[in-house]
Amino acid sequence: MTRFTWAIVAALALAPPLVVRAQEPAGTVRDQTVEDLPAHPGREETFGLCTACHAYRLVSNQGMSRERWDETLTWMTERQNMPDIQGPERALILDYLATAHPPKAPSRTGGFQNPFAPQ
Ligand code: HEC
Repeated sequence: MTRFTWAIVAALALAPPLVVRAQEPAGTVRDQTVEDLPAHPGREETFGLCTACHAYRLVSNQGMSRERWDETLTWMTERQNMPDIQGPERALILDYLATAHPPKAPSRTGGFQNPFAPQ
């Protein structure tokens, strides 16, 4: 074998442990499973649909009204190629999103709220 071939063999021999370590870096936040989510009707359907493309954390980090979730679904469909979910299935998913992830700081005044203002 040439020196070059040995270099490839050595690289392959070293590669697997690197891959294993890359999957579990210390301190990684475990991604959510369906059981971690608030139990309401539509939980499995919503989790399955959204995690086809991205971590559910992208969804659960948000808090929105049903209307804003509806706009998000339209955006996912039009710009991110999400299947166009309509009818009762869309209603179920919107109900779940609005119930499990409502707006985080409901504004009583409807306007800007100073985040540094004393509560
Ligand atoms: C077909 C793929 C696909 C599916 C299915 C999908 N998304 Fe997304 N979603 C994306 C992509 C791609 C991004 C990142 C877009 C970007 O940041 O430009 C994203 C980002 C998001 C974000 C973050 C927006 C932000 O402001 O950072 C939210 C919220 C979201 N998706 C909600 C959902 C919900 C809710 C579902 C399920 C009902 C869903 N997505 C299903 C592709 C998808």
